Amino acid sequence: MADDRFARTAARVAARQDARAPELAERVRAFVLPRGDEHCLDVGCGAGALALALAPHVADVVGIDRVPELIELARERAPANATFAEGDAERLTFEDASFDLTGTLRTLHHVPRPELVLAELTRVTRPGGRVLVVDQVAPADPLEALAVDRFERARDPGHTRLLPDSDLRQLFEANELVLLRERRDVERRELAGYLDLADCQGDARGRALELAPHGPEVTTAVLGWFLVERR
Ligand SMILES: C[S@@+](CC[C@H](N)C(=O)[O-])C[C@H]1O[C@@H](n2cnc3c(N)ncnc32)[C@H](O)[C@@H]1O
Repeated sequence: MADDRFARTAARVAARQDARAPELAERVRAFVLPRGDEHCLDVGCGAGALALALAPHVADVVGIDRVPELIELARERAPANATFAEGDAERLTFEDASFDLTGTLRTLHHVPRPELVLAELTRVTRPGGRVLVVDQVAPADPLEALAVDRFERARDPGHTRLLPDSDLRQLFEANELVLLRERRDVERRELAGYLDLADCQGDARGRALELAPHGPEVTTAVLGWFLVERR
């Protein structure tokens, strides 16, 4: 069901990615400060947002996603040093320590077992290499977090759970990942467009509008950025 949604909305997802690409590229460059010689991996790459932002600043980058329609759109946008393939973020097929820099953008809240994704990202990153994790962060209040998850699942049944900051830090610690840098961005989302992006129509749209945590017009989300180093 989750894959159907991304397959169905792939063109819309890619169009929004194109519109945001220059801003994302600058944010990623300024946050990661790549040296230029890194071999990189983007897990849950969608139409390639993070991989394409990194590509001009690194040696090469591989993007993997489980939705072929998105991989196809990523390939259409790829420079020579970026390649894309189907794959499962929870079971990466790469050798241990294959990459200098790995990352995942807006994907952890779509997987049932985000701890497996973090463990896999750590495994395929070389010691001394870095992992970039960017995702919407859950409110610290568990009841507020439940309300946001209910809204997000009504909008998109492929939504699993937003992780709060404390869970993310515990996952970093469990994988012996050392925090190098972090930042927060607050995103303002116009609700109608946000529901359209997930092709949320009919009864599901009515339910999502009822559950919208900040009313029926606009919602806001906090995006957490974390750059961690593998020991
Ligand atoms: C919200 S999209 C983000 C895509 C892209 N990173 C971006 O920022 O535009 C979440 C992505 O995670 C992918 N995804 C979810 N679970 C996955 C898994 N187990 N393995 C690989 N990709 C997965 C979906 O197909 C989708 O492309």
